[in-house]
Amino acid sequence: MRKKIVAGNWKMNLNFEEGQKLTSEIVNMLKDENVKDVTVVLNPPFVHLYPVKKLIGDTPNLFLGSQNCSDKTSGAYTGEISAAMLASFGANYVILGHSERREYFKESNELLTAKTKQALAHGLTPIFCCGEPLEIREAGTQEEYVKHQLTESLFGFSPEEMSKIVIAYEPIWAIGTGRTASSDQAQEMHAALRAHLAGKFGKDLADEISILYGGSCNPSNAKDLFSKADVDGGLIGGASLKSRDFVDIVKSF
Ligand code: G3H
Repeated sequence: MRKKIVAGNWKMNLNFEEGQKLTSEIVNMLKDENVKDVTVVLNPPFVHLYPVKKLIGDTPNLFLGSQNCSDKTSGAYTGEISAAMLASFGANYVILGHSERREYFKESNELLTAKTKQALAHGLTPIFCCGEPLEIREAGTQEEYVKHQLTESLFGFSPEEMSKIVIAYEPIWAIGTGRTASSDQAQEMHAALRAHLAGKFGKDLADEISILYGGSCNPSNAKDLFSKADVDGGLIGGASLKSRDFVDIVKSF
């Protein structure tokens, strides 16, 4: 049985007080509304991580993730945060390969392999993002494009390592635009990615990998998206900044 996961990516939003308030609200709602069977991950900016971890406490099924980590282990890399540091205070997940990091910070497939290695070496679960820009979707070559991203970054890993990675498919044209992929478009891509993983790592392993959808997911469309056979949850941006919306998405399975 694949894990159902809803991860909130706060991106570069919220000051300290706002982050504390949002986390407390989410913790209380998940407890009061007895939300079960879904793994929920909060991915705030680095400075929020430790205080958010404290607020999460022992809330069942609620975990902490970061939005990035270094490809280096330690040393003179000013401004970097290592996977070891994140793991040392109980972070569990790390988002890697988000299209914003690929585009604005020029993160290559090769760099993302190194970051994924660091995450795995320190027991963090990578939420590995992939997804095509609009012109690729319009040209109809999105499957090749996204499969290539996975091949380049992840196909050097062993089956054991691959089994610890979560994939997030995020069509770039759907991120923050209000233009969600239809549930059929999401299903089509997720099934193609699972088949691609099966081709390399075997069907049994591919069937165990959670593939999340991201891109303008909200409480109104989450149920439809999550009802699809190969959509195992969501990576949520804008709607993860509102506690009611985020928890409603979590409850959409
Ligand atoms: O990481 C989250 C995604 O980029 C989706 O963002 O829900 O604001 O479209 P969005």
